[in-house]
Amino acid sequence: TYVVTDNCIKCKYTDCVSVCPVDCFYEGENFLVIHPDECIDCGVCEPECPAEAIKPDTEPGLDKWLSLNAEYAKVWPNITDRKDPLPDAKEWDGVPDKLQYLSP
Ligand code: SF4
Ligand code: F3S
Repeated sequence: TYVVTDNCIKCKYTDCVSVCPVDCFYEGENFLVIHPDECIDCGVCEPECPAEAIKPDTEPGLDKWLSLNAEYAKVWPNITDRKDPLPDAKEWDGVPDKLQYLSP
C-alpha cells in the first residue's frame, strides 16, 4: 500500500484524490489518509502530491504512518474530488514534524 505522511498535514493539496482509480482516500480536517486494504498499489498518486507526502510502505520507517492511515481511514469520510488546498498550504509545505498539528 501507499501511505500519506507528515508533509500533507496543514497543506492538504488533494491532487492525489483525483487520480486514484479505487477512490481510497479519506479526509480529515487537515490531513488525508489512504485505506491500506483498498489501495491497489498502482502508484499514480505519488508523483501528483505537490508536498511529496505520499510514499510506498516499502520505504523504511513508515510504520507509524501506516498505522495512522489505517486508523483514520476507518472513521473519516471518503473523498473523491479535488478541492482547494488549505489556505496556508504554501507556508506549511516542508515544515518539519507536523504530526503535532494533526486534527483527529
Ligand atoms: Fe490510489 Fe493507487 Fe495511490 Fe493506492 S497507490 S492510493 S490505489 S492512486
Ligand atoms: Fe495531502 Fe498531497 Fe494529497 S498534500 S491531500 S497527500 S496531494
